[in-house]
Amino acid sequence: MWKKHKLLERNSLLLVLGIVIVVSIGGLIEISPLFYLESTIEKVQGMRPYTPLELAGRDVYIREGCYLCHSQMIRPLRDEAERYGHYSLAAESMYDHPFQWGSKRTGPDLARVGGKYSDSWHKDHLVDPRAVVPESVMPPYRFLAEKNLDTRDIQAKLAALTRVGVPYTQADIDNAQADLRAQADPFDMGGGALKKRYGAKVAQRDFDGDPERLTEMDALIAYLQMLGTLVDFKTYQAQDPENQR
Ligand code: HEC
Repeated sequence: MWKKHKLLERNSLLLVLGIVIVVSIGGLIEISPLFYLESTIEKVQGMRPYTPLELAGRDVYIREGCYLCHSQMIRPLRDEAERYGHYSLAAESMYDHPFQWGSKRTGPDLARVGGKYSDSWHKDHLVDPRAVVPESVMPPYRFLAEKNLDTRDIQAKLAALTRVGVPYTQADIDNAQADLRAQADPFDMGGGALKKRYGAKVAQRDFDGDPERLTEMDALIAYLQMLGTLVDFKTYQAQDPENQR
């Protein structure tokens, strides 16, 4: 049989066919177990889908291309963990469609930026990055504070996400408008219902410091302030002890 190898080497079509067979055996061995595993993502306490306001902020983040300079993925390397905190878990981006992991870091990783700064720091920074970080090369996004948030399609957005497996309930979808407005206004009566749906830890406040208006700045800061805050790493235990570092 080995002597027949010449046949393969002289006939390019046969060789390509041979390569396809060998590669697909390797591929099948790697891929097929994933179809039988119940889940390839470990369940982690604290994870929840985005609130409507955070989701709107995430859309602003994607629209403005923040991901071109910022990753959202802390790698399990010592220098990363010391700078940014616990390495990112798969579960932390399970409701991200599309995910924002990225690999370009002109600016720092943002996976755990939530709670690192105050809302007003974020507003000042987004309006004029060099006002707070003189050496910054980040562009200003002043217009976000002047632009009213377009909320017309928020219900449709939640509904669309259920199609790819995000577990919004019908009540979440029906109340998306009310929940969105309630989160950006600390005096809104809908705050209780919002927290019932998304958990007591949801931040309900006026994020952009302009109580008169609901702006894209409100939504973006609400999103930034929740990044990386859902999983409590004081109590988190990796299911696989091999993963503990
Ligand atoms: C051209 C690249 C670039 C783009 C685009 C960009 N940033 Fe930045 N960003 C930076 C750099 C550089 C820094 C570090 C200096 C600073 O803090 O301003 C930074 C810092 C930050 C920080 C502070 C992070 C920390 O831990 O200190 C936040 C928050 C942030 N950016 C959010 C955003 C958001 C939101 C957008 C999109 C609206 C965005 N950035 C777009 C380059 C960028």
